Amino acid sequence: MANILVTGGAGFIGTNFVTDWLVDPQADGVVNVDKLTYAANLHTLASLDRDERHVFSRTDICDRQALDALLAIQRPRAVVHFAAETHVDRSIHEPANFIETNIVGTFTLLEAVRAYWLTLDRGARQAFRLLHVSTDEVFGSLGPDDAGFSEAAVYAPNSPYAASKAASDHLVRAYFHTYGLPVLTTNCSNNYGPYQFPEKLIPLMIANALAGKPLPIYGDGLNRRDWLYVADHCRAVRDVLARGVPGETYNIGGGNERTNLEVVHAICDLVDEMRPDAQGSRRRLIAFVPDRPGHDRRYAIDAGKLAHELGWVPSETFESGLRKTVQWYLNNQAWVASVTSGEYRHSIGRDYAT
Ligand code: NAD
Ligand code: TYD
Repeated sequence: MANILVTGGAGFIGTNFVTDWLVDPQADGVVNVDKLTYAANLHTLASLDRDERHVFSRTDICDRQALDALLAIQRPRAVVHFAAETHVDRSIHEPANFIETNIVGTFTLLEAVRAYWLTLDRGARQAFRLLHVSTDEVFGSLGPDDAGFSEAAVYAPNSPYAASKAASDHLVRAYFHTYGLPVLTTNCSNNYGPYQFPEKLIPLMIANALAGKPLPIYGDGLNRRDWLYVADHCRAVRDVLARGVPGETYNIGGGNERTNLEVVHAICDLVDEMRPDAQGSRRRLIAFVPDRPGHDRRYAIDAGKLAHELGWVPSETFESGLRKTVQWYLNNQAWVASVTSGEYRHSIGRDYAT
């Protein structure tokens, strides 16, 4: 049976990707490689392990020996690389992990995959793909009237997270041009949906609104992000993996630009509708807090290449996706409680939350 190897398959997007992938009874098996940091979803992994097409390995992508052994045994036809440190606020306080996993880890993975790829026969080598999942944050901040980032946008990362992802994108590119490794890179805008760790804006605001806690908005709340429902991102990754051209990059975005204040207002209104509060609208909980250092003002994606070349368009609007997401968090409060550990509370105290 053919396999794909997914790194970071226990994280927010990786969990959604693996789960969606295995919905198809004809789909290849998944070898899920994850170090299981604080961001990983143990519960979802447990349910995935009932499917014999899913093999999990607790492995650090910086561990070359472990990667070599996995590749030799599992012999995947493709690698989809999600594993990363991903929270901008954490990258400001503790950038070292971001350098280690996002840069050294991606380099180690590339080296292991290149060595494995060279062992394949000619046909398998041509068909092989490594898809690197990256972010629009590598392009820096847009002015208010600028067009959205296209694939030709200049790299201008502003946070340690964005800089480490930019470095990994460059390494992936170099492995195509130098060694001919058949790589694909996707740069996606902000995702939201089920299983996102409640340190990111949308799940944090849902959890705090439900708990009657302050909703910390950095600065003036007018920073803008282009929001994409996670299932739409996962479908785009599947499309690029199946039909993308090696060496090419593809930008993925929802066409849903909102200010942070608009997002938080929408969350408050949905939580009020689904769980009315005798004390009145949750908008009363909004608390403006000091801004994040180096806070990018605006991200937006021009996803025209993906639409024209691969026929991908998002299926959820921001309104439909956010409604599903709020409902999911209301139905899964035990999951939120279980991942909101002492470590997480400690980190929030150091950030900008009131
Ligand atoms: P996440 O933080 O929820 O999950 C990351 C996963 O990687 C976790 O399961 C973690 O245990 C694992 N991991 C971390 N270090 C590892 C290591 N050294 N070895 C093996 N596994 C390790 O992240 P996410 O939001 O699911 O993001 C996945 C990918 O998508 C990342 O590469 C990120 O840069 C990219 N991306 C995310 C977004 C977004 O809005 N979340 C948008 C665009 C791109
Ligand atoms: P985040 O979810 O951390 O994603 P990113 O920084 O990768 O875009 O934050 C999204 C936006 O929300 C960003 O402009 C920072 C802002 N934000 C807040 O205002 N308050 C918060 O508590 C958090 C976590 C984010």
